[in-house]
Amino acid sequence: MKYTLNSNNNSATDNHDCVILPIFTKEKKILLSDAAQKADNISTNKIQTLLDQGDFKAKTGNTLMLYNLENIKASRVLLLGYGDEDKLNSKSFATIASSACKALKSKNIKNASFYLSGNTDTQALEVTQSILAFSDCLYQLQDYKSKPEDAPLLEELVISSTTDFSSESQTALKHSIAITKGMKLSRDMANHPGNICTPSFLANTAEELSKTFDSIQLEVLEEKDMEKLGMGAFLSVSKGSDEPGKMIVLQYQGASDKSEAPIALVGKGVTFDTGGISLKPGASMDEMKFDMSGAAGMLGTLKACAEMELPINLVVILAAAENMPSGRATKPGDIVTSMQGTTIEVLNTDAEGRLVLCDALSYVGKYKPRVVIDAATLTGACIIALGHHISAVLSNNDELVNDLSNAGEQINDPVWQLPMGEDYKKQLKSSFADLGNIGGRAAGTITAACFLGEFTKDYKWAHLDIAGTAWSGKDSTGRPVPLLSQYLINQANS
Ligand code: BES
Ligand code: MN
Ligand code: ZN
Repeated sequence: MKYTLNSNNNSATDNHDCVILPIFTKEKKILLSDAAQKADNISTNKIQTLLDQGDFKAKTGNTLMLYNLENIKASRVLLLGYGDEDKLNSKSFATIASSACKALKSKNIKNASFYLSGNTDTQALEVTQSILAFSDCLYQLQDYKSKPEDAPLLEELVISSTTDFSSESQTALKHSIAITKGMKLSRDMANHPGNICTPSFLANTAEELSKTFDSIQLEVLEEKDMEKLGMGAFLSVSKGSDEPGKMIVLQYQGASDKSEAPIALVGKGVTFDTGGISLKPGASMDEMKFDMSGAAGMLGTLKACAEMELPINLVVILAAAENMPSGRATKPGDIVTSMQGTTIEVLNTDAEGRLVLCDALSYVGKYKPRVVIDAATLTGACIIALGHHISAVLSNNDELVNDLSNAGEQINDPVWQLPMGEDYKKQLKSSFADLGNIGGRAAGTITAACFLGEFTKDYKWAHLDIAGTAWSGKDSTGRPVPLLSQYLINQANS
């Protein structure tokens, strides 16, 4: 899919299979955008007549396809509701662009010209959200269909404006295309089934990425390396599986000063979570192939960052393991020793994410990172707390939370902070070891973060629980690639 920018103040001459024209609402009235007005003037006021008849309400995301309007070069015109022009933001524009793409998708349309509102303040965000929405809407993974299904025909989206494009919008175009590439990588990885996407598959995918970009270096810690480092918590998870666990370490050097402190991204890469001996129930267990979405998101973010050539340094760690029951598997009550020396009583083998992550979080300390962000499909409780719309953020640093919330708002991949604290930490007490790996039913997302917090005291850290946002139905969403990419862009600019 090709995305370009074109400033053109005459929508009637647009030589495309479809021209998409914004229509606004203002109080009870309907208003034509400049682009729509031009087309209306030339086509003997067909659009205005139709609006006067009340056949189209310009609510956010409403669409109406018109054919063969007089004197208009394009054979189709899509009227697109933008709602109240003064209320346009990333979220409403995501809805608008997504409806536009849905309206085009099933038709024989290869290229379209998509007119933006014409408002210079929101131009860059409109560019970004169009590209993210179209690429989301056109995404497919066809690797497993023996006969390919009909792929969408759309090949080119010309993002058009009756005003000039600002330099911010030009940058937004480049950045958004990079972000969609990162999201595609992340979604593909997460959508692959557990029999294909194993820890070794994640390591191979990481290797391919490091070969594509000179700026990326790869190192993989095998189980024997992790034994030497004393990563008993991580190894207790991969122990029950025939698939060897891997700690995948990638470094991106984009800063002019190679020794500049990196931003660290750590992802939970449980390629299938059966629960282990604390076996999960069967219903929807297939969705536990998505339990590596944190790792997929971090690799996708790395790809986006390398595509954008951001002038920062990154270290990315994917903690990859499969959680299986077997004769060798860890049992409830087993006590293991983590890399930092903390002993852990594994009271529930299904609370495995925190076990693979805690050793990764200890290990990442050696890179002296300026901040560490982890992403994990860590707790079902997070879905109960926030549903599927917003990721949870828990942190030991308020400024970092602020930076993440702002980035999330900016690109429409939002986060919401949950608290931490001593009272919650107490729920993790163990009768025999330093820590238990579960804290009871109450505040499950918070106690999980408190567990990780015991391993992140040496640096500024934020944890993203993406259990509710990483996939929707049976499809990966590519989140939190937009959030983290925007955060990195903002860091590179500060
Ligand atoms: N991967 C799951 C969390 C999860 C469950 C994410 C459902 C998305 C949908 C995680 O490893 C897990 O099993 N967590 C347990 C923790 C509990 C045993 C303390 C959970 O949430 O039930
Ligand atoms: Mn689990
Ligand atoms: Zn899990």
